[in-house]
Amino acid sequence: MEALVTTTNQLKPTHLFSKRTLQQPSSSLSLLSTLREGRRRRRTCTPVWRIPSPSLPLRIYANSQAAPASMETSSSSSIPSEMKAWVYGEYGGVDVLKLDSKVSVPEVKEDQVLIKVVAAALNPVDAKRMQGKFKATDSPLPTVPGYDVAGVVIKVGSQVKGLKEGDEVYGNINEKALEGPKQSGSFAEYTAVEEKLLALKPKNLDFTQAAGLPLAIETAYEGLEKSGFSAGKSILVLGGAGGVGSLAIQLAKHVFGASRVAATSSTGKLELLKSLGVDLAIDYTKENFEDLPEKFDAVFDAVGQCDRAVKAVKEGGSVVVLTGATTPPGFRFVVTSNGSILKKLNPFLESGKVKPVVDPKGPFPFIQAVEAFSYVESCRATGKVVIYPIP
Ligand SMILES: NC(=O)c1ccc[n+]([C@@H]2O[C@H](COP(=O)([O-])OP(=O)(O)OC[C@H]3O[C@@H](n4cnc5c(N)ncnc54)[C@H](OP(=O)(O)O)[C@@H]3O)[C@@H](O)[C@H]2O)c1
Repeated sequence: MEALVTTTNQLKPTHLFSKRTLQQPSSSLSLLSTLREGRRRRRTCTPVWRIPSPSLPLRIYANSQAAPASMETSSSSSIPSEMKAWVYGEYGGVDVLKLDSKVSVPEVKEDQVLIKVVAAALNPVDAKRMQGKFKATDSPLPTVPGYDVAGVVIKVGSQVKGLKEGDEVYGNINEKALEGPKQSGSFAEYTAVEEKLLALKPKNLDFTQAAGLPLAIETAYEGLEKSGFSAGKSILVLGGAGGVGSLAIQLAKHVFGASRVAATSSTGKLELLKSLGVDLAIDYTKENFEDLPEKFDAVFDAVGQCDRAVKAVKEGGSVVVLTGATTPPGFRFVVTSNGSILKKLNPFLESGKVKPVVDPKGPFPFIQAVEAFSYVESCRATGKVVIYPIP
């Protein structure tokens, strides 16, 4: 614990993103001890089997008042040089996350816009990245975490064509989730994002609802597309109550035209699955999905159970996998952020056919980001874990 404090104090907050402080003492003893500490504390998302989970009061936000539906524009002349942000300067568990009020506001490149962040959302990749699981391809420390953002454009780069100051936007700020994701993420007052990764926020959704969508809905859409899913086919979604699963169910049914959707969850979340359009809700604490006589044209595995998923697919069907080991014909992919997918799906969101699911434990105020990270690491989140308000 002492080592942690020492290392973190070595960071010069006002220069967090200057060239000088990007060279952090990555081989120092204190960092090593922190990494070990992080490993001891880390919780892994091992699939839970026959352990009942508590029943949660579930909310699907379609017209929630949790966050304002629109914001006043601030002019670029009022953009400060420093901002509040959550930062980690070394890999580890949630203990490495520090709130810093003197982080440099990111520079805007010519193809980027600067967003005043109104709400941000967490994904499991944020926790895994912080634990150092992707350090071989990560950007250098220190890191402001956060892939998902919803907010207001307050400055545009010289090459930006389709967005202007005052636009309310949402998106996943990292084009490649694991290859050099941005150092300056969305857990901050401001973040700089390429125009091509953004879309206008659906008019009927507030910032909280919109922030929870980008990475998860892009993953759900890309996975369904890569599996060759099309109208009239059946699908089984493993992990139907999670951020990605809850959207994979809805996209399969309402966008791709699935003939039948089955999904797994624990007992307390079966009603949520049905409300999302699931025809067959399977309680994984009571039934083995692979033992059912029914087989599916596709299986969407958002849990890491590919070895079992391949037993539930029809001959010639496809098994798309988000995490864990793969068994043929299962295949894994890593999501690519793409604003045009969000634009394509906006009509389905605006018509209410596809609804964001925001975890009822949230939204978590900015100051409670550590609690939000811990909750995501528990693998029990229902829909999306959102951070709002952001100061
Ligand atoms: N490859 C990619 O590009 C990509 C993109 C996004 C996410 N991912 C990965 O995909 C996984 C899911 O992401 P996510 O954002 O959906 O996570 P999430 O929201 O944290 O998932 C939590 C949900 O998982 C459910 N769950 C846990 N164990 C389960 C089991 N054995 N059977 C059925 N449901 C189970 C939980 O429901 P219960 O409480 O009912 O168990 C909970 O509602 C993560 O490992 C993430 O890292 C990969």
